[in-house]
Amino acid sequence: MTAETRSLREIAPEKLTQEEAAAELAALAAEIAAHDRAYYQEDAPTVSDAEYDALRRRNEAIEARFPELRRDDSPSRRVGAAPATGFRKVRHAVPMLSLGNAFADEDVQEFEARVRRFLSLKDEDRLEVVAEPKIDGLSCSLRYEGGRLVQAATRGDGTEGEDVTANVMTLADVPKTIADAPEVLEVRGEVYMDRAEFVKLNERRAERGEPLFANPRNAAAGSLRQLDPKVTARRPLGFFGYSWGELSSPLGDSQWAVRERLRSWGFRLNEPARLCADVQEMLDYYREIGLQRAELPFDIDGVVYKVNRLDWQDRLGFVSRAPRWAIAHKFPAEQAQTILRDIVIQVGRTGALTPVAILEPVTVGGVVVSRATLHNEDEIRRKDVRIGDTVVVQRAGDVIPQIVAVVPERRPEGATEYVFPEKCPECDSDAVRPEGEAVRRCTGGLICPAQAVERLRHFVSRDAFDIEGLGDKQIQAFFEDGRVRQPADIFTLEARERERLDKLVNKPGWGKKSVENLWRSIEARRTIALDRFIYALGIRQIGQATARLLARHYHTLEAWQKAMIEAADESTDAYAELTAIDQIGVSVARDLTAFFAEEHNLQVLERLKEQVTVEPFTAPRPVESPVSGKTVVFTGTLETMSRPEAKAKAESLGAKVAGSVSSKTDYVVVGADAGSKATKARELGVTTLTEQEWLALIGG
Ligand code: IVH
Repeated sequence: MTAETRSLREIAPEKLTQEEAAAELAALAAEIAAHDRAYYQEDAPTVSDAEYDALRRRNEAIEARFPELRRDDSPSRRVGAAPATGFRKVRHAVPMLSLGNAFADEDVQEFEARVRRFLSLKDEDRLEVVAEPKIDGLSCSLRYEGGRLVQAATRGDGTEGEDVTANVMTLADVPKTIADAPEVLEVRGEVYMDRAEFVKLNERRAERGEPLFANPRNAAAGSLRQLDPKVTARRPLGFFGYSWGELSSPLGDSQWAVRERLRSWGFRLNEPARLCADVQEMLDYYREIGLQRAELPFDIDGVVYKVNRLDWQDRLGFVSRAPRWAIAHKFPAEQAQTILRDIVIQVGRTGALTPVAILEPVTVGGVVVSRATLHNEDEIRRKDVRIGDTVVVQRAGDVIPQIVAVVPERRPEGATEYVFPEKCPECDSDAVRPEGEAVRRCTGGLICPAQAVERLRHFVSRDAFDIEGLGDKQIQAFFEDGRVRQPADIFTLEARERERLDKLVNKPGWGKKSVENLWRSIEARRTIALDRFIYALGIRQIGQATARLLARHYHTLEAWQKAMIEAADESTDAYAELTAIDQIGVSVARDLTAFFAEEHNLQVLERLKEQVTVEPFTAPRPVESPVSGKTVVFTGTLETMSRPEAKAKAESLGAKVAGSVSSKTDYVVVGADAGSKATKARELGVTTLTEQEWLALIGG
């Protein structure tokens, strides 16, 4: 916002001159469009709902005063932003509209009065209204033809959305077939994520070092708009049905009856809902839901009132972007102002440095808040948050409290810009931020206490050192009592603890036998293959496959380590050699060299090398079999084994298993219901085998 628009913004709509109003409408159009883009296309809202609604209301108020100034690009002509790219566009048969908002009780009374006036109802005429929770997710239209789900689309700009059929097909809440549906049926509703599922999803993302979703709505939007439906399938998304689009025959004569119809087809409904007889009952409902809000498993941002009789809904129709027969009664955004006492840096398990605001405790929506997330360093800079500032705190969807903005006029004199640390506050290692990433990370790896436990767990895990008897709990306990601080300590544990075995044995959950078993399984792992060893170090981005590539390429630990140290200088041959390895790119190379650039990691490695023997990588001897060296593709459902098993078997016989058929394919093994791959094989003249023929060939 420029200084000029800021001062214009302070003038009430009724006081603006025509010229000022025109300038303000232009500014509002641009600003709202930017927020829409952030919300709809990037799933990353830049303002709170309340701020956004305030902008829209201001826009509408000015337009009401100066109808002739209404712009072609006015936000009141649009519902949201145009669809993001990547999905096919879908034109909605019936536009997907939005809802007008009510904030105060009077707005609701006014809504009811407007409806009565519009329909010329008499005082004694009953006007029933359905009240239901307003779910904070994203709306979606499901199209059924002949009772089969044929298309699912997001709202997009209300006229045109995105085709998310493949993704919606993975939602358990969405019936794929409906026995007694009208020939054409469009069910509309909200895709959402339960709060508990959202928290779990974010925990998993934090473990993997992936950016976190700000709230369940963003998580739902981000999960639905995945280009790979397999990703959507793994996300815990739900769907509530509450409305409809095109229909070949009506679903009932009241909103309430349609709800029941949807329920009978297996849709989940927004609950608890209520059929209200008058405004008082509507407002009572609003209050009750407001009190239950925290206990509901999903986030809601208000309630929706809908005129129950559908013949009346038809008569009421729409104004610009919203129906006259419905309105959203929003909850006030839970915000409060307080003083920012300090900014502390938390180091996550993957080494991510997260700034946390330490606040003068303040009650926000009934909960005392004394800490809030500041997300990352860009966020601090963007909002220009300084220690000593008075800040606006918000509990977004009742989840993690956030700092929305600073109150600039209350900034104390001398408050200085916050400088984000470039050293890890836990272990003093360098904290680096790769270009293009939002997160700064500690490079301390194994020596950083914040990361150490997680790294140790990884170190002993099945695909790494595979030390039986050292589970999560034991690692945590050993770390806390100082017995195991870094990997090498595991191998010196017995020697150090032998005399004090009694102490160990007396710990809950430890008997003499389990201690002896532990010593045995540790001993058994003193010799390890290079690829496992590399993987065990827990270097970022180095999974099993990459570890194997590295082991195969460098053969010995010494050669690999030497090369990684040299490769820190990107002008060396070592760097060129590293990045020339198939599937190792610049970003993986950086993580590798960063690990070795850290003195602490070298020490950890040296100590570990004193304890264990790392075997040079030996390429598996080529297997002699009828299929060794052949490329095989499996397609369709196999009867005698699962696909992964078939793949493993083929590989153990020296065959290469590919995912798609080309002229280089030797055999295509065709199971039941095979599709295009079998056809392609025939077209290319590649030998196709039945499962039985394949088994006969490999002699199994
Ligand atoms: S009815 C023609 N009912 O709120 C209007 N919408 O702000 C049909 N929403 O686009 C919408 N819960 O995404 C309706 N119980 C509910 C709702 C609901 C959430 C969303 C929906 C809509 C937006 C409008």
